[in-house]
Amino acid sequence: MLSRTDYEHETGAMKKNIVLLPGDGIGPEVTRAAAAVLRECAREFSHQFEFQELPVGGAAIDAKGTPLPKETLDACRKADAVFLGAVGGPKWDSLPVGKRPESGLLDLRKGLGLYVNVRPVKLLEPLRGIAPLKPERLGELDLEIVRELAGGMYFGERGQTTENGAERAWDTESYSTPEIERVATFAYERAEHRRRRICSVDKANVLTSSQLWRRTVTALNAVYPAIHLEHMYVDNAAMQLTLRPSQFDVMLTTNMFGDILSDAAAALAGSIGLIPSASFGSSAPLFEPIHGSAPSLAGKDSANPIGSILSAAMMLRDAFGLGLEADWVEQSVSRVLAGGFRTPDIAEPNGRNIGASGFMEMLHEEMQRTLEHAERYGWGV
Ligand code: NAD
Ligand code: IPM
Ligand code: MN
Repeated sequence: MLSRTDYEHETGAMKKNIVLLPGDGIGPEVTRAAAAVLRECAREFSHQFEFQELPVGGAAIDAKGTPLPKETLDACRKADAVFLGAVGGPKWDSLPVGKRPESGLLDLRKGLGLYVNVRPVKLLEPLRGIAPLKPERLGELDLEIVRELAGGMYFGERGQTTENGAERAWDTESYSTPEIERVATFAYERAEHRRRRICSVDKANVLTSSQLWRRTVTALNAVYPAIHLEHMYVDNAAMQLTLRPSQFDVMLTTNMFGDILSDAAAALAGSIGLIPSASFGSSAPLFEPIHGSAPSLAGKDSANPIGSILSAAMMLRDAFGLGLEADWVEQSVSRVLAGGFRTPDIAEPNGRNIGASGFMEMLHEEMQRTLEHAERYGWGV
């Protein structure tokens, strides 16, 4: 096993520009937690992470009159990685689609050419007791939702009109073969490094776009013959997730279905506050917890920072290739949970229930302990 010093010598320290987009509600709190972990990582491993913080969402509407100011998008395009907290809130809920905080996030995804979003849903073993399914049903929960991110109903033609005094509004679901191929290719590659199973989720019994989806994903299986592909209708997939989630390895699906299924899958792990995500495309990758701005929790020190911290770990591993650092963060989170410490969303009757800032203190201590242990005995011992 390498000591940390040898490791730095062999791999070289890294210099990275990271844009932080805290956003609204609990967004700033969870972004601070992620940034603290990244800073600690830079300090301990001699990396140089430079942070630039910019407005997005409701905060940007208030400050600049638009949910995605040009300076924010420009800075993100030049960054090595982008981190987003969350956007949205009651203050901006009466705004029309296109002007809302959420449009800022969608324009950011589009503007960075991000076409795939990975949402790993894995049981953190110390939390088995708070998971909503019985242990024998939950099994080994370890799946990844690969969600298409740049197309589908989110970006299809939409409009509204009035017909004979009645309003009508529409949004359309549409996918082209190349749009499906690029996200499916990502899912196949991802599955190669996992348990080699893909479940592609669609509604091909009703939707033409889903029929094209299914044909395209099936054709691509010829390029990846070692991957076992199955197809499932989205209604059944929602049920199977709740009945027997351990049957899933990689779930490949559309923008809309991925949004819905990932919140459902998050509940299986115990809280939506635990789940990270990473998005990739033609420009800087984006990392964000899958939860929203949870307005009722904002400023109460009770938002779970783990989804945000694990998104930072994904940044370390998937954007910067810093696997050891990512393992360090993830293992430290697990150890704090193993010590019984719980934020309110995952509180247990006999748990050591603390707030988010208490959790961050415990995490810092645990990260330092893990480091000392690794210096002495090597990593992963
Ligand atoms: P939400 O994810 O904000 O909250 C859903 C539920 O989960 C709430 O009960 C909330 O208290 C809880 N929750 C969320 N994050 C948590 C955390 N870190 N720790 C503990 N509990 C947590 O979804 P919502 O209520 O449907 O939406 C609220 C706002 O957030 C809306 O404006 C919505 O558009 C926006 N939103 C933004 C994003 C994003 O920025 N990526 C994602 C989803 C929703
Ligand atoms: C998510 C969110 C976003 C989405 C909203 C806020 C635009 O729900 O990231 O899951 O629907 O993609
Ligand atoms: Mn969502």
